[in-house]
Amino acid sequence: MLGEGVVEYRRLGRSGERIAAIGLGTWRIGGGMAADYSMDREAVEAIRYAVELGMNHIDTAEIYGGGHAEELVGEAVKVFRRDEVFITSKVWHTNLRYDDVIKACERSLRRLGTGYIDLYLIHWPNPAVPISETMKAMEKLHREGKIRYIGVSNFSVKELEEARQALSTTDVVANQVEYSLYERRVERDLIPYCSREGITVIAYSPLGKGRIAREAAEGRSARARILNEIAEKYSKTPVQVALNWVIWREEVVTIPKSIKKDHLRENAGAAGWRLGAEDYRRISEAWA
Ligand SMILES: NC(=O)c1ccc[n+]([C@@H]2O[C@H](COP(=O)([O-])OP(=O)(O)OC[C@H]3O[C@@H](n4cnc5c(N)ncnc54)[C@H](OP(=O)(O)O)[C@@H]3O)[C@@H](O)[C@H]2O)c1
Repeated sequence: MLGEGVVEYRRLGRSGERIAAIGLGTWRIGGGMAADYSMDREAVEAIRYAVELGMNHIDTAEIYGGGHAEELVGEAVKVFRRDEVFITSKVWHTNLRYDDVIKACERSLRRLGTGYIDLYLIHWPNPAVPISETMKAMEKLHREGKIRYIGVSNFSVKELEEARQALSTTDVVANQVEYSLYERRVERDLIPYCSREGITVIAYSPLGKGRIAREAAEGRSARARILNEIAEKYSKTPVQVALNWVIWREEVVTIPKSIKKDHLRENAGAAGWRLGAEDYRRISEAWA
């Protein structure tokens, strides 16, 4: 049932870059808002295992574990060539003034132990800081090669348009937003906009923070029974179907978090195949 990682890549924005359709999230790897060192060995092993399975898009942020998640990512990727991994990190919304963005990025680079971050995102919009000021700093980092691509997270269509207008030498390649069977709001405006404009949607919390596995296992709701039935039809697990549903549109990639090897194998096996249109529609309607 558990597929080994069949690597599937998707184009990043309108760039020539291709990133894993299923990557790895690191929220709560190395702590929540503060560092937790108790699981370091498991965390490093999990990140390495994910990369080996083909989930080489690793998502982290300066805020995760008070910086410790970035340290663990840095430690884990040491054993790979730098271009074998694609690292996304994020600047927190209280660091969006020009000088603060530059300093935050320098700190992230140090913790990650790398000369560049592949994709650097504004974690949340902050209306108190003009987006033009933040983007000036992002473009400086981009010019200097410290970040390869610029993106945003939790931006509405309007905020995304403003962010793009504030850039002069490059464009926003991605918007990271919550998207799962439980959270569908981005389907209304954001996904259609990104699809039209060639912007990648990076779906976060694609497993509803773990809820989907529990609901499917209980099998009490009608929608869970439909998910289970379709999983059986494809010889996949309900979690794999839920993730495949998230990445069904070409412009969407995702980053489920796990520190467990069997879960990582299961998540990697959610790519490399595709739900038929009728089954996709059935799940979409049952979970609306
Ligand atoms: N930009 C933002 O504002 C933002 C916000 C939230 C999250 N994110 C990013 O998105 C990533 C993913 O979102 P998330 O961590 O909130 O939630 P998620 O990926 O939907 O769910 C993670 C939870 O599911 C469990 N899990 C993973 N694979 C499983 C499997 N195959 N079977 C059963 N349980 C499984 C994990 O536990 P185990 O570790 O025990 O497997 C963990 O408890 C984050 O880690 C972070 O990188 C970004």
